[in-house]
Amino acid sequence: MSNIHQLIRKNIRTLTPYSSARDEFSDSNGIFLDANESPYGVLNRYPAPYQTVLKKKISKLKQIPTENIFLGNGSDEVIDIIFRIFAEPYQDEALIFTPTYGMYEVSANINAVRLHSIPLNKDFQIENSKEWSKQLNNRNLKIIFICSPNNPTGNLIERTAIEEILTTFKGIVVIDEAYIDFAKTESWITKIKKYNRLIVLQTFSKFWGMASVRVGMGFAHSDIISYMNKVKPPYNISLLNQKKVIEKIENQQIYQQQLKQTLKEKEKLQFELSKMKIVKKIYPSDANFILVEFANADAIYNQLIQSQIIVRNRHRIVENCLRITIGTPEENQKLITALKNRI
Ligand SMILES: Cc1ncc(COP(=O)(O)O)c(C=O)c1O
Repeated sequence: MSNIHQLIRKNIRTLTPYSSARDEFSDSNGIFLDANESPYGVLNRYPAPYQTVLKKKISKLKQIPTENIFLGNGSDEVIDIIFRIFAEPYQDEALIFTPTYGMYEVSANINAVRLHSIPLNKDFQIENSKEWSKQLNNRNLKIIFICSPNNPTGNLIERTAIEEILTTFKGIVVIDEAYIDFAKTESWITKIKKYNRLIVLQTFSKFWGMASVRVGMGFAHSDIISYMNKVKPPYNISLLNQKKVIEKIENQQIYQQQLKQTLKEKEKLQFELSKMKIVKKIYPSDANFILVEFANADAIYNQLIQSQIIVRNRHRIVENCLRITIGTPEENQKLITALKNRI
C-alpha cells in the first residue's frame, strides 16, 4: 500500500462517490432507460465518465498507463481538485514560488488554504533560501506547486532544485508543465513511478491549440488518480470535447510544423526586440511567450491596445514587464511594426 492515503483529507478518504448510471453499465449496446436521458437526438446520452477511449490515446501518446491519467475540464480543474483532496480548509497550507501562474493562489483562496510564497531569484530559479528551510519544517505544509516552464517568466526550473524538493518534502509536489511541449527537455512524467507524491500537469490548451476545448491532464500514482476520480463531477468532459481531442491526437503531424514555426518566430521576435531602445531586458524563454522588460510597460501596453494588439501587462508582478505570446508571422510582424513606430 502506498503512503498516499494518509495524505488525503479524511472526509475524501471515506467519501462514497456518486455512482452514475454509466458506471454501473458502460457497454454501448443496449436499450438505455437508466439515466433519464431523452431517447431522441445525437447528443442525448451522457459521455463516458472516465473518458476511457481518450485516455487510451493519451496513454499511447505519453507512454504512460491509463491508470496514471486524470482528465479535467482544463488543468485549472485539476489544480482545484488537488486542493480539494489533499488540503484541509483552515488547517493545511500550500507553497508557490513567485512570480508564477495566478490560479494556484485563487484556488488556494477558494479552498480556504493558506498559501506561502517564496520569491524566485533574479534568474527566476528556486534558491535554497532561509525561507525554504523554514517551510520544510512547517508541519501544515501539504502541497508545493512548481511551474516549469514558469508562467509568466517563461523559463524552466532547474532539475536539481526540483529533485531536491521531491526528495526532502514529504507532501504533494505538483509540477505544472502547461508549456513543456515548447521546451527542449524531458517531461517529469517519467518520474511519477519513482516519486509517488508527484503530480504532473499538462494541457491541450497550448501546444495542441485547443484552449476552448478545455481538457487538462494530471499524471500521478494510481492511488492519487483514484481519489481525483472520486471527487470530480461525474461527466466533467463533454462528449464533443473528448471527440475533438481524439481527432487531434490522430492527426498530430501538423503540430511539429507549428512548433517549428513558433520557435522560429520566437527567435525573430527576440532579435527584433533586442534592437529596440525601449526594451530593457528580454528574459530567456522555454515557452511560447516571452517576458520583456520595457522602460515604461504601462505606456507601451496602452499604446499597443490602441493598435488593437493585446499583450499581458505583468508590470504589477514583475516591474515594467509585458508578457508577449508568440503569434502567427503576420501577427508578430504587426507587433514589431507597432513597437517600432513608437520609437
Ligand atoms: C502554467 C499554467 N497552468 C495551467 C493553465 C491552465 O490551463 P488550462 O487551459 O488547461 O486550464 C495555464 C493557463 O494559462 C497556465 O499558464
